Amino acid sequence: MPRAQWASRMGFILAAAGSAVGLGNIWKFPYIAGENGGGAFVLIYLVAIALVGFPIMIAELVIGRNAQASPVVAFEKMAGKDSNWKAVGWLGVITGFIILSYYSVVAGWSLSYVLMSICDFLEGKSPEQISSLFDNLYVSGGVNVFWHTLFMLLAIGIVYGGVKKGIERWSKILMPVLFVLLVVLVVRAVFMPGFSKGVAFVFAPDMDKLTNAGILEAVGHAFFTLSLGMGAMLTYGSYLSKKTDLVRASAIVCSLDTLIALMACLIIFPVVFSFGFEPDQGPGLVFKTIPVVFSQLTGGPLLAILFFMLLAFAALTSAISLLEVVTSHFIDKFGWSRKKATLIPGGMIFLFGIPSALAGSGALLGDWQGIVGKNFFDTMDYLASNWLLPMGGILIAVYVGWFAPKKLIKAEFHEGSKFKSLFVGWLWVLRIIVPIAMVVVLLYKVGILEFADPNLPT
Ligand code: PHE
Repeated sequence: MPRAQWASRMGFILAAAGSAVGLGNIWKFPYIAGENGGGAFVLIYLVAIALVGFPIMIAELVIGRNAQASPVVAFEKMAGKDSNWKAVGWLGVITGFIILSYYSVVAGWSLSYVLMSICDFLEGKSPEQISSLFDNLYVSGGVNVFWHTLFMLLAIGIVYGGVKKGIERWSKILMPVLFVLLVVLVVRAVFMPGFSKGVAFVFAPDMDKLTNAGILEAVGHAFFTLSLGMGAMLTYGSYLSKKTDLVRASAIVCSLDTLIALMACLIIFPVVFSFGFEPDQGPGLVFKTIPVVFSQLTGGPLLAILFFMLLAFAALTSAISLLEVVTSHFIDKFGWSRKKATLIPGGMIFLFGIPSALAGSGALLGDWQGIVGKNFFDTMDYLASNWLLPMGGILIAVYVGWFAPKKLIKAEFHEGSKFKSLFVGWLWVLRIIVPIAMVVVLLYKVGILEFADPNLPT
């Protein structure tokens, strides 16, 4: 049976953008930028998107489309059945498992805010009161588990029914609506007193504020936000037709994803500086700030419902790609039915997410924080984004750059592309720039490299 394909070129771009654009852009990026001092962090992130993310996205699509299979089987096909490269595929499955477990908790917060918006939670509240609502939610273990359960059921239900039927159609309508709503919010933010301070925070790099850990976090986030390093794009690439221009598609997805992340910052930080909040509030940042904008808008309560629904939808399209990696693995590798391959791993991911859902309340694994220094939720995010995804990404780059049959890679890159002349440059970026950049980042992280102290005479 020939492998299922996307209905149209647009269908693929929407699906890939659906995977990339999610909580990473609107929830995570602003809060980690806030924790890491803004501008300089954003700059490193932008460099990482262009220099590391974009080439690796092409690489994943090249492998996926060429092998026409999910990650483990793709590496078996390309590198040989006994080759160790298939471990990269396994790593991806494990990473997808971990990410989805806590991602679903955050998506659950978004669902919870839909209900809160329907109950008109903004009515008569000051900005401080609005922002403190998140703290209540965060510590309410049972409520978090409830929304986590609901979101996992949605994700499992959709992947169970096959990815493309409903989702492709809904994405076509809902993603543009989300975009328009973000534009409206940015416009409202422009008129806030703290707008210029917010813009300066995001775009004026102050290198002193950047830490070694922050650099790794920025690069790790480039992988997270583009869904790279764990085979999600590879899997989506396996449903691609030969007519698609992989370079162009990657460029579109990377730009769109970055644009949305920056727009989220241009809403959130003006609020932060207009109302005297702190930029480094951690994972609650978006939920504490954006509702404040709605409280200042005519029709705000209605828009709040719409916004959190769209955020939950954006999270769902990303969650689907995470679960699809795990599910298609069990189908391709062990011959499981789609039903079994969705329900069993999906159920396990759900259970594994419970300690994350309870992290704020300390109801389960309460000592975890004391031992590891971060709660369970933060530990999983840290492990996946800062270590597992970058590791998977480097291995994919090195494999495509040095080990994969060059002829094959070249033919696949050229197929359907107007940018054939970029092949050599791309290959050398994967061979040299990506590995060196990642090694430098890691040396900073472990403290072997340090920033020069700006106060010392040079
Ligand atoms: N890219 C998604 C986001 O930004 C998260 C994700 C990571 C999805 C890895 C798939 C794979 O929210």
